[in-house]
Amino acid sequence: MVLSPYSALVRPVLFRLDPERVHELAIASLAVAGPLMARVAGPPDGGGRLTQELMGLRFPNPVGLAAGFDKRARAVPAWPALGFGFAEVGTITAQGQPGNPKPRIHRLPDDRALINRLGFNNAGAEATAATLARWRRRGLLGRAPLGINLGKSKVTEPEDAPADYARSLELLWPFADYVTVNVSSPNTPGLRDLQAIGPLAGILDAIDAVAARMTAGRAGAAPPVLVKLAPDLAPEDIDAAVDLALERGVAGVIVTNTTLSREGLVSPEQLRSREGGLSGAPLRERSTGVVARVARRAAGRLVVVGVGGIFTSDDAWEKLAAGASLVQIYTGFVYGGPGTARAICNGLMERMDREGVAHVSEIVGTSAR
Ligand SMILES: Cc1cc2nc3c(=O)[nH]c(=O)nc-3n(C[C@H](O)[C@H](O)[C@H](O)COP(=O)(O)O)c2cc1C
Repeated sequence: MVLSPYSALVRPVLFRLDPERVHELAIASLAVAGPLMARVAGPPDGGGRLTQELMGLRFPNPVGLAAGFDKRARAVPAWPALGFGFAEVGTITAQGQPGNPKPRIHRLPDDRALINRLGFNNAGAEATAATLARWRRRGLLGRAPLGINLGKSKVTEPEDAPADYARSLELLWPFADYVTVNVSSPNTPGLRDLQAIGPLAGILDAIDAVAARMTAGRAGAAPPVLVKLAPDLAPEDIDAAVDLALERGVAGVIVTNTTLSREGLVSPEQLRSREGGLSGAPLRERSTGVVARVARRAAGRLVVVGVGGIFTSDDAWEKLAAGASLVQIYTGFVYGGPGTARAICNGLMERMDREGVAHVSEIVGTSAR
């Protein structure tokens, strides 16, 4: 494999520093450079061959930034400029919160993985809405769809979760091209229990109520809602969540979040045993399996977003072929650097040419047929 200049020269330096410090540096730089970058570059669309209309939105290409990288929406203009076809900010909770004590992100380079237990450190819905309002005033929103990923504040009791999600949605409503209900992060105690049908239905009810209030007597539709699931659900629980999503008119499912599994890791025990969610290469197959299961069950009635262990265009292709219409990356971006989204788009185009595929949508579901 040929190493990019980032992987050969920059990554070895950055990987000597504390992961969260590097992340902060990256976000701070992109917060400053993003508006300039947005003037000179936008997301590639492969001359229209990578562009899809889904859920009433136009995605210039299928490669998105996964939730968790830009939790405070500080670098929103940078993502399309780096080639992303969409970006998801958050997780955002109704109340700002500091998250878990540091250190809380660990690299497992031998496994091309990360383990994190950040615990939804974020500025809260009101402050994030103010940041997004500033980007809008400067004309820096709208280059590519923006997803708003919502979670439950740590201090909120599980039975009050619906009100927490609803409060955040009200505040962030004007900026959401789509909304993700995150019930799958392993680092907020009890959050993943909200994936069960009863609690999830309660949250979706509360979101519907906000949508009804916000659209009453006004032009414009409510943003599509997606649900983000964990890879560790039992197969029948995945099916139940998909059935509920279908019943409730949810637009899509994002699969998957990080895993608590440590299967197949080669990193030393002292790294493997860190607490938190595992992401990156060891998650790839597991999340592709969930994509295939969800796609089969939904049979074209939900948009499936595939995320987990995508580093290359072949990894992205695998998720699309399993039934995802869109993909997202986080750990692959940390390991691959700023050129990753563009490289994946280029790689998809090259393989489409090689295999005689005219449009990216033709890849979707091909391995399931
Ligand atoms: C450091 C870190 C923080 C994350 N924070 C969030 C988050 O706040 N909300 C969320 O829905 N997912 C979060 N994720 C999960 C990613 O969005 C993604 O689902 C997961 O990492 C699998 O993709 P990957 O293998 O490309 O990293 C986080 C992942 C990492 C590594």
